[in-house]
Amino acid sequence: MTQLESDLLQKLPGASKAQLDPQAQEYFLSAWASIFYSGKAVGKHLMVCSTNRKEGSTTLAVGMALAGCQGAASPRVAVVDMNFRFPAVHKVLGLPQSPGIADVIARTASIADVARNIGGLDVFAAGNLGAGSLDLLTEQGLAQTIMDLSSRYDHVIYDVAAVNDYPDAQVMASALKDAVLVVRTNRTPREAVAQAKKRLEMGGARLAGVLLNMRTFPIPRFLYRRV
Ligand SMILES: Nc1ncnc2c1ncn2[C@@H]1O[C@H](COP(=O)(O)OP(=O)(O)O)[C@@H](O)[C@H]1O
Ligand SMILES: [Mg+2]
Repeated sequence: MTQLESDLLQKLPGASKAQLDPQAQEYFLSAWASIFYSGKAVGKHLMVCSTNRKEGSTTLAVGMALAGCQGAASPRVAVVDMNFRFPAVHKVLGLPQSPGIADVIARTASIADVARNIGGLDVFAAGNLGAGSLDLLTEQGLAQTIMDLSSRYDHVIYDVAAVNDYPDAQVMASALKDAVLVVRTNRTPREAVAQAKKRLEMGGARLAGVLLNMRTFPIPRFLYRRV
C-alpha cells in the first residue's frame, strides 16, 4: 500500500491561479506518480475519498489532478466533483457550482457544455443537485457519463463523499474500481480506516493507496521553529 505524507497542501490556494506552489506541485506529482506509475494496475478512473469529512479529499483530488495534467506527457486529465453531499471542487477553484456533472448524468447538458478548463485541467463542478445524491448515483445516466469521460480523458479523478459518513463511495466503487483513501494523520482512528477500507472493498473497489494528510510535527511546533 502506498503511503504518502504531506503538510504542503495549505499551498493549494495557488490553484485558483491555475498554478500550484512549486513545493505543493512536487508533493502532488509524487502522489500522482506513486499511484499511476507504481506498476500497480490502476485504470483511468480514480476515486479520492476520505474516511470522514474534513480530512482532505477535495484538496487532494484537485491538487493531484492539477499536478498530473502538467506531467511531461501532457495527459488529458479531468477532475469531477462527485461529492453531492458537500460539493467543494468549484469553491477551491473559484467556479460556480452549476452547470456540472449532475446535469450530464441527468442528461440535461453534455460533457462539452459543462467542462471548464483551468491550467490544462478539465474541471467538472457538481452541478444542479435537484435529485438526491443516491438518486443521481444510481441513475442509468451515470454509466453512460463514465463511459463518455473514458473516451475523452487519460485520467479522471473523482472527489467523492466521505466513505464512513455516506454510502456514496461504496455505490460508486463498482463502476470506478480504483480508490485512494485520504486519512488525517494522528486524528483518524485506526478502526475508522479499517472500516472505510472494508466498505470500499465490499463495494468492489481496489485500494490503490492511502494518503496521509496533515502530518503533524514529530516535536512540538514551538520547538521546531527554533531548530
Ligand atoms: N495538508 C493540509 N494542510 C493544511 N490544510 C489542509 C490540508 N489538507 C486540507 N486542508 C484544509 O482542511 C479543510 C478540509 O479539507 P477538504 O479537502 O475540504 O476535506 P474534505 O474534502 O475531506 O472534507 C480545508 O479547509 C482545506 O483547505
Ligand atoms: Mg470535500
